[in-house]
Amino acid sequence: MNALQIIHEAVRKHVQNGDFCIDATAGRGNDTLFLSNLVGNSGHVAAFDIQPEAIASTENLLRQHEKNNFTLYCESHAKMKNYFPEETISCIMFNFGWLPKGRHDIFTKAETSLSAVEQGLHLLRSGGLMTLILYYGRENGFSERDALLEYLPTLDSNCYTVLEMPFVNRKNCPPIPILIWKEK
Ligand SMILES: C[S@@+](CC[C@H](N)C(=O)[O-])C[C@H]1O[C@@H](n2cnc3c(N)ncnc32)[C@H](O)[C@@H]1O
Repeated sequence: MNALQIIHEAVRKHVQNGDFCIDATAGRGNDTLFLSNLVGNSGHVAAFDIQPEAIASTENLLRQHEKNNFTLYCESHAKMKNYFPEETISCIMFNFGWLPKGRHDIFTKAETSLSAVEQGLHLLRSGGLMTLILYYGRENGFSERDALLEYLPTLDSNCYTVLEMPFVNRKNCPPIPILIWKEK
């Protein structure tokens, strides 16, 4: 099992036909497509990325699969609160890091990631799920991971259940999958 498979298992169980979901880091569009399949034609997926190349890849992938239930924003996820009402989103996925097969000098950063996670928690409906995958230790360093791992334990346990799942028998900075449920 890798971090993405663990996250997909949780999202698959959670997301229903007709839901509104956000892919906060569109990249090559794999998670956007995954969410688009889960929400079906009556649902919708919004996906954010700061790189036009990522938005174009995501658009191509979803068009290849004949999807119409998505909107793409070439915009930082740190602006996402401007686009949706609070308490309306069923699931928000963050897959941090850099664009697969893209530049390694453009990647998610502590300050914007933290702000986006905070905003996302307000956007989640009660009972909603947020997923994070943290990458660290290479070009992207440790500051984003450290900022998020410092922030998450401060969330009120009456409002959120936070599960951090580090791999304990893998070497070389394995990604960390995290699940956050907003209590009902
Ligand atoms: C690991 S990739 C995402 C992979 C993607 N989910 C997929 O299925 O291919 C991380 C993406 O986050 C994007 N990113 C970096 N900073 C961002 C920001 N502030 N807002 C939105 N996206 C950002 C990068 O451009 C990159 O495409």
